[in-house]
Amino acid sequence: MLYSRITGTGHYAPERVVTNQQLEKSINTTDQWIRERTGIEQRHFFDPEKDTVANMGTRAARVALERAGLEPEEVDFIVFATITPDYYFPGCGVLVQRELGLTGIGALDIRNQCSGFIYALSVADQFIKTGMYKNVLVIGAEIQSSVLDMSDNGRAMAVIFGDGAGAVVLQATSDPEHRILSTHLHAEGRYAEELMVKDPGGSRAGRWITKEMIDSGGTNPYMNGQAVFKQAIIRFPEVIREALEKNGCQTSDLDLLVPHQANLRITTHVQESMGLPEEKVVSNIQRFGNTTAASIPIALSEAYEEGRVKPGNLICLAAFGSGFTWASALIKW
Ligand code: UT7
Repeated sequence: MLYSRITGTGHYAPERVVTNQQLEKSINTTDQWIRERTGIEQRHFFDPEKDTVANMGTRAARVALERAGLEPEEVDFIVFATITPDYYFPGCGVLVQRELGLTGIGALDIRNQCSGFIYALSVADQFIKTGMYKNVLVIGAEIQSSVLDMSDNGRAMAVIFGDGAGAVVLQATSDPEHRILSTHLHAEGRYAEELMVKDPGGSRAGRWITKEMIDSGGTNPYMNGQAVFKQAIIRFPEVIREALEKNGCQTSDLDLLVPHQANLRITTHVQESMGLPEEKVVSNIQRFGNTTAASIPIALSEAYEEGRVKPGNLICLAAFGSGFTWASALIKW
């Protein structure tokens, strides 16, 4: 039997740190509001002179490759999850391929928002299990600070989101004791408009982009925060339990939960409702904010660096976000 195994993790955070106090100076918000409602204390914002989504993803990928003991030339496929690509097309996967000096290998972009990394991991897992690829780079990266509406109108989202990149190396293995056990992907398109960037409109609007779209704020992200919150606290436990049940495991078997970092209140709610001790749940939203497709690989890479990820551990990744989409992956590390 062929399985896939994560053999390396890595992440990259842009140098510029923006604290809540700094945001207070330009937006009608307070450090207290942001901390109480989200848990966030600071986030990283990109440097336009230096950072792009693709090059941040490449930096994270290089760390993951080094930890996996793999040369870039040994990678045979790239899957890149982002909602903030360098270009509308082509995707970031081909740009990473170019930056790594590779030619010919396939590169795929995934657009599944906060669930993007787990969708990407699942795609890579299926390719490895069928024998199609052996060494796959899976990357999640975002630059959201350039998309956010930093005026008072956009304050509910402007204070939450941040920039960053994370990556894993997924390799083929025949060892059933150290592998991805299963992945679980879900979506509910009737909620598509609850968290979205509406414009540019393209096929829907008849024109790609118009002045009216910009003037009406259609190019700014929109979120019905409470609707997202209510669904998130249902779907997170549901999809984690689905993964555990599929593999005959109990919640108490879990060594580590690495949830998408959406809001510390969501994570705490999930942790408490599932009866998990706090130390078994990774939270770094305090320092990163919500980095959408990058949040899980960044959190996983940090947990690895902190020695919280050990061989044989049962680890669950879980995400919920725009679409709505939600997903989980259960891993025997
Ligand atoms: O990544 C996956 C997708 N995203 C999520 O999972 C996020 C889910 N949602 C949330 O995390 C929360 O809904 C938010 C953090 C976005 C908002 O928290 P909330 O407790 O739902 O606040 P709210 O939207 O109900 O707003 C409460 C008040 C409002 O004022 P009034 O109407 O009570 O006077 C807002 O105008 O807070 C106000 N407000 C702010 N005040 C200061 C909204 N944003 C801010 C702000 N600073 N940045």
